[in-house]
Amino acid sequence: MNKDLLKMEDLSKDEILDILNLGDQLKYELKHNITHHHLKGKTLGMIFEKSSTRTRVSFEVGMYQLGGYPLFLSSNDLQIGRGEPIQDTARVLSRYLNGIMIRTFSQNEVASLAECSNIPIINGLTDDEHPCQVLADLMTIREKKNILDGLKVAYIGDGNNMAQSLIIGCLTVGMNISLAIPDDYMVTDYYINKGNEIAKNNDLTFKIVNNPREAVLDADVVITDVWASMGKEKEVNERMMAFKGYQVNSELMTLAKNDAIVLHCLPAHREEEITEEILEKHSDTIFEEAENRLHVQKAILVRLMK
Ligand code: CP
Ligand code: NVA
Repeated sequence: MNKDLLKMEDLSKDEILDILNLGDQLKYELKHNITHHHLKGKTLGMIFEKSSTRTRVSFEVGMYQLGGYPLFLSSNDLQIGRGEPIQDTARVLSRYLNGIMIRTFSQNEVASLAECSNIPIINGLTDDEHPCQVLADLMTIREKKNILDGLKVAYIGDGNNMAQSLIIGCLTVGMNISLAIPDDYMVTDYYINKGNEIAKNNDLTFKIVNNPREAVLDADVVITDVWASMGKEKEVNERMMAFKGYQVNSELMTLAKNDAIVLHCLPAHREEEITEEILEKHSDTIFEEAENRLHVQKAILVRLMK
């Protein structure tokens, strides 16, 4: 396994399945009060340059449950917020900590942090990727459907961090994926090319279309995310217009398989990307998905830091 988890591409199929298996085991052990102090005496720094509920709390609690110690580091309080270069921050923090989880804007910043640190760096969301979330999504899909191979995933909405990590994550584990994204909010060419390459080598279907009805047809899993991600708040009005036909609602869901599940990484904006009705109908799965962040991230921490 690589030193870091910066993007989905850092993990092979076997490594993803190993993380999911360990996530399942840690979930079982937690529910049966079996302690698992795999990271006794280890410390994880958690740098946040954007807001968070799930990522912050699940990493913090997860580290505690593994017998380690988490430190919440807001970029407002760190010297990074006053211009100290990430390269210097990395070299200093490497001498105190055993690992760093970072949520920030630029993927390059996370890559620089990893390059200058000799401890594992975990991407807790950038503008480009959200690998921890996609691993929790894969864990949830496997839990609900028992398999991953051959399933069809449909993603409806913005070509954002979730869309990009889902393309790589779903195809790598052997699922087909169709995305409905408006042209002006497309994923980058890098992810289109990479997706095509993985699909071709593994005989899978990877499609990006404009029409949500086409993407969702016969899907086993339907996924959406907010129309204006963190950092895009100023574009909210124009995005509301552009994404109008991209809502996951009961009418769209009639085209998916009867037993299709719905995932949403949360936070959700009801009546925008998803209706209240569909969110509540699938709330058991969606909140299980949120819970699985805890279990799958503990597995990531163990594999990278033990
Ligand atoms: N899904 C997710 O990453 O949630 P937070 O922004 O609350 O961490
Ligand atoms: N795409 C969203 C995900 C939030 C967890 C964002 O980047 O804000």
